[in-house]
Amino acid sequence: MAIETVGVIGTGTMGNGIAQVFAQNGQKVVMVDINGERLDAARKIIEASLNRLVKKEKLAADQVQPIMDRLTTSTELAGAKDADFVVEAVTEDEELKCKIHKELGGLLRPEGIISSNTSSIPITLLATASGRPERFIGMHFMNPVPVMKLVEVIRGHDTSDETTQTTVDLAKSLGKTPVECRDFPGFVANRILMPIINEAIYTLYEGIAGVEEIDTIAKLGFAHPMGPLQLADFIGLDVCLAIMRVLQEGFGDPKFRPCPLLVQLVTAGHLGDKTGRGFYTWENHKVSGVAYT
Ligand code: 3HC
Repeated sequence: MAIETVGVIGTGTMGNGIAQVFAQNGQKVVMVDINGERLDAARKIIEASLNRLVKKEKLAADQVQPIMDRLTTSTELAGAKDADFVVEAVTEDEELKCKIHKELGGLLRPEGIISSNTSSIPITLLATASGRPERFIGMHFMNPVPVMKLVEVIRGHDTSDETTQTTVDLAKSLGKTPVECRDFPGFVANRILMPIINEAIYTLYEGIAGVEEIDTIAKLGFAHPMGPLQLADFIGLDVCLAIMRVLQEGFGDPKFRPCPLLVQLVTAGHLGDKTGRGFYTWENHKVSGVAYT
């Protein structure tokens, strides 16, 4: 099935990155958000990101406008009704996602495929809400989307082989490496990553070492590009906590209990890069100091 038009629902960091890579790939993209100002901001963020690529000589300057012309916006889900493929990337709120997928399922033409970029909400649950479970799938991009090669492809209980193949082919056409897995809490990426981050937070909480020491050990010891505490700030501490809670509830295993320090920072509104403070202080999306000592 040829995918010519893609709907991207949500204009957070992930939605913007996903819209950018599809538009760069030649697809027409309809970005949907209930907030018109966020849509305007999203276009500016994507244009700035493309101009950075031009500066680095990774994109021809005369390609920016055609890419931007392929990006349209809508404040209504109905704006995406003609899409061949939809990627939903709204906040990790089960109720909100179910509501959106129920509506999308009724809007898209029968052969249209709906995917969710959810980091841990069960695909089967969202697929059921959509009313088209065979044409529903998880398509989990990694942050930052334009840089990271992995796309986790998660089959719901009733996802068809055809839907899976179309999604795998689509991810490959973006230059990504799709990897299939089954629909269990946290899938694979976050089932492994979040306990690492949570354990790093426990290590800090128990006073074993400081923020920079823990991150330096991980960076130099395991050749990770970012230490786990910086990565937690980069992802968003609220997102990390939400995923830990999905793992804890989904497996009922105490090994997934979120560290009280993570809970406290989220309660205080210190969510990392997006609020300027988490384990580190952040300015212009770069670490500017250590916030937690
Ligand atoms: N958008 C586009 N390009 C970006 C970018 C962004 N947001 N951030 C960085 N880049 C590009 C830079 O332009 C640069 O490109 P170049 O090599 O062509 O010059 C390249 O990435 C490297 O960037 P920098 O030199 O500025 O900085 P780093 O070398 O520190 O790399 C990083 C930045 C790519 C973010 C790197 O630190 C990294 O890989 N970090 C780990 C990211 C990670 O683990 N992501 C997965 C998170 S888990 C997830 O997403 C799942 C979710 O469900 C929680």
